[in-house]
Amino acid sequence: MNVKIAPSLLSADFSMLADELRAVESGADLLHLDVMDGHFVPNITIGPMIVKACRAHSRLRFDCHLMISNPQQYIAAFLEAGANMISVHFEAEAHLQRALQLIRDGGALAGVAINPATPAESLTTALEFCDYVLVMTVNPGFGGQTFLEPVVPKIRQISRMITDRGLAVEIEVDGGVDARTAPLVVGAGATILVAGSAVFGKNDRSAAMQSIRSAVTGLRA
Ligand code: DX5
Ligand code: ZN
Repeated sequence: MNVKIAPSLLSADFSMLADELRAVESGADLLHLDVMDGHFVPNITIGPMIVKACRAHSRLRFDCHLMISNPQQYIAAFLEAGANMISVHFEAEAHLQRALQLIRDGGALAGVAINPATPAESLTTALEFCDYVLVMTVNPGFGGQTFLEPVVPKIRQISRMITDRGLAVEIEVDGGVDARTAPLVVGAGATILVAGSAVFGKNDRSAAMQSIRSAVTGLRA
């Protein structure tokens, strides 16, 4: 499967979002949008209004990462705003299968996100209900944090669980991904790479995405 590059808007210049969207339009496979509520994570970012405003300036598929408490309550709003993929945190949702079904019923792909300390076994009864797993390689809340390498074996473990069950679930990795760490996660089974500071922190966004892509080319069939 081809590896997809998903630049995270969190590290973009929020005073010129339309320009930032244009800068990644041709080199990215998806656009990753980080939604934070100041409750589940210690930071506040964007909501459905900004997602909708961005929608008018991009043809990329929108991958909304909900780092919010009670995410189920907001799924309809993000679907309406134009999200194509929505992930909810395992740690934040008491009725996980119901939330995932709501996302799928709305025509988007449903993801389960897990924090670095959350074990792979948490996904035992969730894998059949989702389209992708978002494995955090930093504790969520901020861009530019250091990649937590001890999480890599967990990616491999989840990949094995998916293969053993013959499922078509993809693994997305988020946090500290750059040209150095991307080969580690792709080697462990990830096919979607989120990169915030490694793309929007560079002057040439296209070259930054290309260098991550080159670093993983040929690693997977
Ligand atoms: C962090 C967010 C990430 C963030 C990653 O909580 O979920 O998507 O943008 O930023 P980098 O790639 O800089 O670690
Ligand atoms: Zn994210």
